[in-house]
Amino acid sequence: MSTHSPTQTPNRLVIRQPDDWHVHVRDGEMLNEVVNFTARQFARAIIMPNLANPVTTAEAAENYRTRILGALDTHMDTHLEFTPLMTCYLTDTIDPKEIEGGFTRGIFTACKLYPANATTNSSHGVTDIQNIYSVLETMQRIRMPLLVHGEVTDKHIDIFDREAVFIDRILSKIVADFPGLKIVFEHITTKDAVDFVQAGNAQIAATITPHHLVYNRSAIFEGGIRPHLYCLPIAKREVHRLALRAAATSGSPKFFLGTDSAPHTVENKQSGCGCAGVFNAPFAIESYAKTFEEEDALDKLEGFASEYGPQFYGLPLNPRKIILKRTEVEVPKTLKIMDTQIIPFHAEETLPWRFAGFED
Ligand code: NCD
Ligand code: ZN
Repeated sequence: MSTHSPTQTPNRLVIRQPDDWHVHVRDGEMLNEVVNFTARQFARAIIMPNLANPVTTAEAAENYRTRILGALDTHMDTHLEFTPLMTCYLTDTIDPKEIEGGFTRGIFTACKLYPANATTNSSHGVTDIQNIYSVLETMQRIRMPLLVHGEVTDKHIDIFDREAVFIDRILSKIVADFPGLKIVFEHITTKDAVDFVQAGNAQIAATITPHHLVYNRSAIFEGGIRPHLYCLPIAKREVHRLALRAAATSGSPKFFLGTDSAPHTVENKQSGCGCAGVFNAPFAIESYAKTFEEEDALDKLEGFASEYGPQFYGLPLNPRKIILKRTEVEVPKTLKIMDTQIIPFHAEETLPWRFAGFED
């Protein structure tokens, strides 16, 4: 009889509390409903500025931060300690002094580049990268990170090619012209992006969402059209999903967690022209844990979720630890939000890990 026992999978994981380096928490009633899903799991989050009225000034960011803090359920959950990290939405005419002032005063953590009309609420975005060259110079000098939605918006470019074409036409040029600029290539979806980031210097990193690790573009059309899997950048072929999984679980500090949780009401998703966005905040860390376990890389989860992000941003690591328990969790079919519903990512699926609070 062999004395060799099969590899034991752990039943409990304790990792440093993660941060979410890319999230949409919206505003108004929706903000009050959705932000606590993020705040329950994550210590800090980079808050996307693409509100209907985009956040383009330090004053607007301060006010938005106050509204976010006001929406936290601190009376319900005494463990809730959450720091929103604010970003500035870049426009063609934004003043570099506003950005520098906001960054120096600790209001802005980073700037977000949306190519005009690339995604939800991006009509005020940048129409030509040359228009923000003086802003990028300032950001390079003050070491302020640039967060990039990396898709070209040219309708003649196939939607599945827009990220790769963005690398060739725009990102390569930014990197060449601003070698000292800190850049986060957000929610990457292609092998091209993985390769580009890997080959780059230490100034460039990327975030990877839970959903782009889980499904490919065929899944969006499996048995019919599945609007809740539609997000931007859209999921690509299987070869790209596999490259993302390899990158996320590689232990490279260039790849870290950013959920891109982007809630839209069920009416706005299930429509003749449905909105882009996956609402993954409710079970975000559980989703990543499942993927990392499938890749036999649970030992790499903490770096990806809790260490490489703060290291890139030059922020301290979170002192608290969270517990993940191997307990099946049923993801609800819908979540009642406002007077309607939002369909969460993994709806009606069972996930093997459950977020189980903090270690004492
Ligand atoms: C985001 C949203 O709804 O704000 N949607 C999405 O599909 N990810 C915008 C974005 O990040 O592209
Ligand atoms: Zn986003």
